[in-house]
Amino acid sequence: MSHAASLPVLRPGPQPLEAPVLKVRDLRTDFDAKSGTVHAVRDVSFDLRKGQRLAIVGESGSGKSALAMSLVGLVPPPGRVVSGSVMLNGKELVGLDDAGISRIRGRDIGLVFQDPMAALDPLRTIGSQFVETIRVHQDVSVRTARAMACELLAEVGVDDPARRISDYPHQYSGGMRQRVLIAMAIANDPAVVIADEPTTALDVTTQAQVLDLLASICDERGNALIMITHNLGIVEELCDSVDVMYAGRFVESTGVEELFETPAHPYSRALLDCVIDPATTRRGAMPAIAGSPPDLAVDEPGCPFAPRCAIGRDEQRCATARPEPRTLSGGAVVRCHFADDTPGGAA
Ligand SMILES: Nc1ncnc2c1ncn2[C@@H]1O[C@H](COP(=O)(O)OP(=O)(O)OP(=O)(O)O)[C@@H](O)[C@H]1O
Ligand SMILES: [Mg+2]
Repeated sequence: MSHAASLPVLRPGPQPLEAPVLKVRDLRTDFDAKSGTVHAVRDVSFDLRKGQRLAIVGESGSGKSALAMSLVGLVPPPGRVVSGSVMLNGKELVGLDDAGISRIRGRDIGLVFQDPMAALDPLRTIGSQFVETIRVHQDVSVRTARAMACELLAEVGVDDPARRISDYPHQYSGGMRQRVLIAMAIANDPAVVIADEPTTALDVTTQAQVLDLLASICDERGNALIMITHNLGIVEELCDSVDVMYAGRFVESTGVEELFETPAHPYSRALLDCVIDPATTRRGAMPAIAGSPPDLAVDEPGCPFAPRCAIGRDEQRCATARPEPRTLSGGAVVRCHFADDTPGGAA
């Protein structure tokens, strides 16, 4: 593991003095498939500070959900966190047993995961699930928990929560179920909220409204937010920093304004080149870039983006030497041999 990969990611703009609430270092997650070991998360390092709104973007299969699951000990078998560290307010989460990580999940880290129907039990009322979510972590009576749940449901825009709390999940629309999940995710006032955007479950407008709501709630309460999304419009509107993920690695870590103004990594530039028309594509899904991502079961020696890269300055170097993270003068941390910080990025 390289020394460079262990360095904290410093982002452009003034750096808050507070210690990060979440400190991730050199995180690696594999899936042991029959056809070989899929390296889904590779040497991911980042800091997350109180009130920060971090977007993680990248094509389908780039490892975003695997990373989110790795942070909270939910990687499904045959997956496992192979190495690295996830420190939450100074406490190491990697290696905690089920009971230990369960105490963290839902209390210190709130989760809004991709499929609201899968996250809720269809056979139990919203109220019963909500009360349980609160009482697992807080020593309060059912009555108090119910009152807290009603308040939170009102906060996320559920009308008449005292009545709606007795409804079952199927009696809520998709967007409303997402709102319920947001209310549950913040119920125990977590330090960090992780939202993995549903890619298909909701229409784009509803999705945007739900994420907008989540961002403003986290903003008011000071929770740090990690938002995993395909939607660059959402990133631009709601987030302050961004990690661009490609084939399991962060290839560019920067401020959102910086990403849109001077994307440095050729992959980031390719993503943004596809969304030039703000009226249409910025609000749409992750744009398609020519070529396909590499096989994650192969640990190639060079730059994983090289076969699709528009720059292609030095084929030999890109094919044989893996770029380590470099901090550009503007503050962006980029894994590319040739990214520079002239306007428009590497040329
Ligand atoms: N249960 C599993 N078994 C084997 N491989 C898996 C499993 N889950 C994920 N992977 C692999 O891990 C890699 C990363 O997948 P992941 O779901 O994290 O991507 P993603 O960036 O979240 O994609 P999307 O945008 O479509 O949600 C993929 O190559 C995928 O095939
Ligand atoms: Mg995903």
